[in-house]
Amino acid sequence: MTSTLITNIGELATLDPERDGLLGIVTDAAIALEGDRVAWVGPAHRAPAADAAIDAGGRAVLPGFVDSHSHLVFAGDRAQEFAARMTGEPYSAGGIRSTVAATRAANDEQLTSQVARFVQEMRAQGTTTVEIKSGYGLTVRDEARSLAIARQFTAETTFLGAHVVPEGMEPGEYVDLVTGPMLDAAAPYAKWIDVFCEQGAFDADQARAILRAGTARGLGGRLHANQLGPGPGVLLAAELGLTAVDHCTHLTDADVSALRETGTIATLLPGVEFSTRQPYPDARHLIDSGVRVAIATDCNPGSSFTSSMPLCIALTVREMGMSPAEAVHAATRGGAAALGRTDIGTLAPGRRADLVLLDAPSHVHLAYRPGVPLVAGVWTGGRPRPRV
Ligand code: NIG
Ligand code: FE
Repeated sequence: MTSTLITNIGELATLDPERDGLLGIVTDAAIALEGDRVAWVGPAHRAPAADAAIDAGGRAVLPGFVDSHSHLVFAGDRAQEFAARMTGEPYSAGGIRSTVAATRAANDEQLTSQVARFVQEMRAQGTTTVEIKSGYGLTVRDEARSLAIARQFTAETTFLGAHVVPEGMEPGEYVDLVTGPMLDAAAPYAKWIDVFCEQGAFDADQARAILRAGTARGLGGRLHANQLGPGPGVLLAAELGLTAVDHCTHLTDADVSALRETGTIATLLPGVEFSTRQPYPDARHLIDSGVRVAIATDCNPGSSFTSSMPLCIALTVREMGMSPAEAVHAATRGGAAALGRTDIGTLAPGRRADLVLLDAPSHVHLAYRPGVPLVAGVWTGGRPRPRV
């Protein structure tokens, strides 16, 4: 097994809870990688010998970002819908159906090369783990092939047949399809099952039935909820003990208490509020209330067409009241927790060697220098990935 030492790191954010502070920062640090794992972390002057050494030049290193929510399997775009929103049109979930039509019409090669392009964009911006959902097929064939394509890029695949009821079907008939033949076809390629629980999509009873059918098949449950207005989704996520509930834009005090008590991760998606001109969720209040939070891009052609975790970090800090350290935590350890993973999101011996070198002296620059491509290097499983 080859070993690599990255040394002369000005600020190493380990995110290791055994170390001090939210980010477990080690200054004047080094990190040794062996095979696909972190082998050693500590002060540079005590670093072990390695096959190869890389000088970080006093710059910052942190765990690769964990983007726990994206919808990358689609065709077409909705730039006109975005432009209309910026001049006053409201966002509506109905736009999903135009992407469904384009996705059904695309062949496997087209969809696969789209996903490859977005995953490369993400990697170049420091994302080392991405979750990818289906949800723009909405037929047995198109949901299964969406997941088979997503599986080529990540183990974190999510069956979102319950995105909206497709044109030409009755809600009850579609729920039967999703919980029956569609689940049968999708389950071999999926780790998770998700439902869009919102007015105009699926109500709490439908979402409960779909999530229970998925969990009975061994899939983990997650939910899109409380995005466009208050609703029952967050309480449903708490009732079912889901790992994560995503969006969480419109919350009542009861929702916040339920999240705190169950430990379900609230995944905040600031690209959505940016791209739909809606009010941002109050991350400050959630954190101060003891809720565990993650941030993710929600990359999709409708509500949030960004692949950039650094942008999401900057928005979360500027618009949602998080400190830069809290935002980095939410984008690394938080994302890992939202995927039920402990092997990623932290740089400590034995964890996966997924890390990012910033062209900056500290993590603060991710929010302080918004829009600037600060990612100078990315390692996934101990291997350097060229910048695209
Ligand atoms: O997470 N909320 C539901 N689904 C996506 C949006 C999908 C779309 O507009 O195409 C989301 O925001
Ligand atoms: Fe989403």
